[in-house]
Amino acid sequence: MEYLTSTSKEVSELFTCYYGDQKTELSKASYYLLEAEGKRLRPAMFKLAAESVTPGSSNQIMSGALAVEVTHTFTLVHDDIMDDDSLRRGRPTVHVVWNEPTAILAGDVLFARAFVLLADANADPSRKVEAVRILGKASEDICEGQQSDMAFEARDDVSADEYLEMVRKKTGVLYGTAGALGALLAGASPEVVSAFMTFGEHLGIAFQIQDDIIDLTRETAVSGKDQASDIREGKQTLIAIRAREKGIDLTPYQRNLSSDEIQEIITLLTEAGIIADITAEAQAYIDSGVACLSILPDSQEKELLLDVAQFFIQRAY
Ligand code: IPE
Ligand code: IPE
Ligand code: MG
Ligand code: MG
Ligand code: MG
Repeated sequence: MEYLTSTSKEVSELFTCYYGDQKTELSKASYYLLEAEGKRLRPAMFKLAAESVTPGSSNQIMSGALAVEVTHTFTLVHDDIMDDDSLRRGRPTVHVVWNEPTAILAGDVLFARAFVLLADANADPSRKVEAVRILGKASEDICEGQQSDMAFEARDDVSADEYLEMVRKKTGVLYGTAGALGALLAGASPEVVSAFMTFGEHLGIAFQIQDDIIDLTRETAVSGKDQASDIREGKQTLIAIRAREKGIDLTPYQRNLSSDEIQEIITLLTEAGIIADITAEAQAYIDSGVACLSILPDSQEKELLLDVAQFFIQRAY
């Protein structure tokens, strides 16, 4: 937690330097969520990957870590439009404070900045070109994942495998990219870059399963997001899929729910063992992800990466 807190502070200070002086309404809308400070887990992953490959390398390439975080923030701004959510990082969402067209453009600005930031990294030019390719490909995967996430709302037969492929794309690939870019720009071999990609994809799947649990079980005051938004929107989460397999149909709850109703659903799913079951599924993805890091020599950064991996499913926000 200490490491995450200090990385978060460092990232926020860098964002202030880069974008703190906003003059237009659009630049204000773009900065609004960056400033709101999420957990900054992707920059932490980037930094730890870089430092585990070449100690002392991360300072030169921190703009690469920012590139991943602005890409993430861009997806959040657009995701909140898609999911019709009103709260993010404890604040009203960008499309609520401004409007949908401005939120679309604010997301676009953040996405464009990702590539400017990558270009700014002080690293070997051929490695930066490869980094652009990886981040561009990841962004396409995220869009495909988000498209499936929405298309699944209209279906009641989505399988666990379809869910896992959807979340690998919408969430796993960017965690993979965070580690892979940190390693790549720090001079890692292709094998190590690829190990970080698989590590992050597995961790990201677990992260999304935990995100689905948090969506249902944590109050807004803890998560900073709308509670039970997934059930309201009819999302085919692993919770909904495993519930259906046990004969529990969540579709009648596809509307705004009172806190008593949310509590009822939590009790129902907990008693059916569903929360425990999918937590175990998430843990298995953490374990298979962690196994990829056996390629790394022992170091303090490797230990921190293993701790961060466990935090992905121990977190409450
Ligand atoms: C939220 O990501 C979006 C998902 C991939 C589930 P985070 O939980 O990392 O969001 P912040 O950056 O901490 O706000
Ligand atoms: C979206 O998943 C992940 C993204 C790629 C943005 P969610 O829709 O579950 O993310 P939250 O819960 O709104 O953060
Ligand atoms: Mg969402
Ligand atoms: Mg979503
Ligand atoms: Mg969610």
